[in-house]
Amino acid sequence: MKKRLIRFVAAAFAGLFLLSGCDVLPKGTDGPRDVPLTIKADFTQKEKAGNWIKYGDCKITTQDGKALVTNRKESNAGVAISCPDYRGNTINATASVSSANDSVRLTLKYDIYGNVSYVTVASGETTEASEASISGNIEIPANAENAIVYIEGSDVRDITVSSFEISVVGDFNNLTGVPVESLADPTKTASLSAAYAEYFKFGVASPASVMTNKNDKFRKLITSQFNSITPENELKPESVLDAAVTLADPAKYNENPAIHFDNAKPILDFCKKNNIPMRGHTLVWYSQTPSWLFYENYDVNGKLASRELMLKRMENYIDSVMNWCEKNYPGVIYAWDVVNEAAADDGGMRDCYWKQTIGDDYVEKAFEFARKHAPKGVKLFYNDYNEYQTSKQEDILKMLKPVAAAGNIDGMGMQSHISAGLNVDNYVAAAKKYADELGVVIHITELDVTAPKSLNAMYDQGVYMKKLFEAIVAADKAGVPIECVTVWGLTDDMSWKSSTKPLLFYGNLSPKPAYEGVMCALNGGEVAKPADYQEPKTDSTPFVEDFEDKKFKGGPRYSSVQKVVEGGYESDYCLMNSEGYAEYDGYSIDVTNYAGKTIKVTFAIKSKAPTCKCTADIDGTWPTIAEVQTGSDEWVLGEGQYTIEAGTPSLTIYFESVDMNPFYLDNVKIEVIG
Ligand code: XIL
Repeated sequence: MKKRLIRFVAAAFAGLFLLSGCDVLPKGTDGPRDVPLTIKADFTQKEKAGNWIKYGDCKITTQDGKALVTNRKESNAGVAISCPDYRGNTINATASVSSANDSVRLTLKYDIYGNVSYVTVASGETTEASEASISGNIEIPANAENAIVYIEGSDVRDITVSSFEISVVGDFNNLTGVPVESLADPTKTASLSAAYAEYFKFGVASPASVMTNKNDKFRKLITSQFNSITPENELKPESVLDAAVTLADPAKYNENPAIHFDNAKPILDFCKKNNIPMRGHTLVWYSQTPSWLFYENYDVNGKLASRELMLKRMENYIDSVMNWCEKNYPGVIYAWDVVNEAAADDGGMRDCYWKQTIGDDYVEKAFEFARKHAPKGVKLFYNDYNEYQTSKQEDILKMLKPVAAAGNIDGMGMQSHISAGLNVDNYVAAAKKYADELGVVIHITELDVTAPKSLNAMYDQGVYMKKLFEAIVAADKAGVPIECVTVWGLTDDMSWKSSTKPLLFYGNLSPKPAYEGVMCALNGGEVAKPADYQEPKTDSTPFVEDFEDKKFKGGPRYSSVQKVVEGGYESDYCLMNSEGYAEYDGYSIDVTNYAGKTIKVTFAIKSKAPTCKCTADIDGTWPTIAEVQTGSDEWVLGEGQYTIEAGTPSLTIYFESVDMNPFYLDNVKIEVIG
């Protein structure tokens, strides 16, 4: 359906140019070209001739049909495949790699109206000795130009690529020759920050490319809508640390690594000029921080630096970054995320270089140094994701209580990368708990809301945004000190999770129903139903799937990948689910049409994981429908029941394994029994 719509819009655009009688057609309007649906890197051939290119500062040599990537000066340097003709399509990218980096990631990069976006396609753990297959699907926005997918490492160590391929998933939507859509006038949209002025600041994360973009519409959107800015990447250690200078003279910079602000200056200048205060993001983090920082003599082939040395490097870095900004841009930065994401996903503190070198008290130390050196009035924050989940919140509170007791923290940054469906009462209760137990203010720092996989996804997301902001405003009125709400990006197409359509503006800058929902939360209105609104289906036809036609009707939950493979349960084919980032990245089926009914789910499943589950995905809770003991890698039958509340706008159930082992699924049947 969506593809058909895009094709229609594209055709309408092409038609518009023809009808308006343009003498000179814009570049590329001479109709679609034939395009191969798979691009496979051939490492027996040279760059370009072999369908691959070099990305970033590194050296690539080909040998025995493989690419050896060495001398990698940046963690993102490596082999890339360029795929501009696949805009407006979902693609699969698959690579086989070995590397001494802990993990390797496939990243999609594209230009969107002069801005640059980076989206993670898939990632996987790697070793030097064995080959890992990394694979994922991702949607390239229709207006994206110059799309490439590159293979990057968690670190600057060598990467060997033995295969790398990109292919179109599903029917090909050929947008070659179709010009990109024109941008909407951003000043026509009522201001979020003005509307919310009496409650909290309304902020946005932006890349510096917006400030240097020759198109000023993105800047106009910022100045008209938002009154706080967070640089999306430009103040992270990997942007600020000056590798060239530091590594050229490690002895000189041993305790105090060199820094520069070339990446951040355009955005700092913009904030200064337009009087928009900035959230500084971020000083101490396990990610986007080069590993050389943690080694003796900054040499990753040597030994990790001692606690004493790392404490000095940490203090000097925090001091010099905060004070360079204050000296050169007085008063612009009003808050710093001092420590980012120190809590682990599976409990306790995250294992990382900071913890390995300094020890468990690295968080306390970072805040102690930040307090000692912070310019007057600058607020110090801890920032994390999944922060609203009960067990992670307990871990975060435990970690931060000594910091609060020492008087070194002012705020909790709730990143809030959430899905439409998260229970809003639980979410604001978590905000209140942080404020009460730590005695700090709250910033919602990186809000983005994955759109539901429903018939009216944009509308349903808008309705959810209204509920969410009503809850946030009610909490604020009731005294929860929410001082700023920042959305993590300007438009869906610029989002780091663009495929999930998580933001308030479409790629062409026009406001989405999600924006309308945020406004309705204040003025009591309702999000308008779109002209193409489809009544949710309520039929009770059973859902039956045996994969014998080699197709599947459900889809990935988050980053998992599905493939129909041979060897079904008493049949030829079944579905294989693999490659997720987490065990709950499974196979998801929309069951919204059964709202108000009790369903019975039966299935056959096989996995090396000890147990597999069928789970409902409802309102931020995940009730188990059926659990089966697998582990033997033999087919096991599962069965369970679930009653779906009437009026649920969007509900999916999903199959998952309890660990990262792939699972195989067959004979799925969902029927209404009451
Ligand atoms: C993301 C950016 O949006 C991407 O452009 C970048 O490639 C990776 O980082 N938590 C954080 C943010 O604190 O800094 C991350 O930003 C998103 C998750």
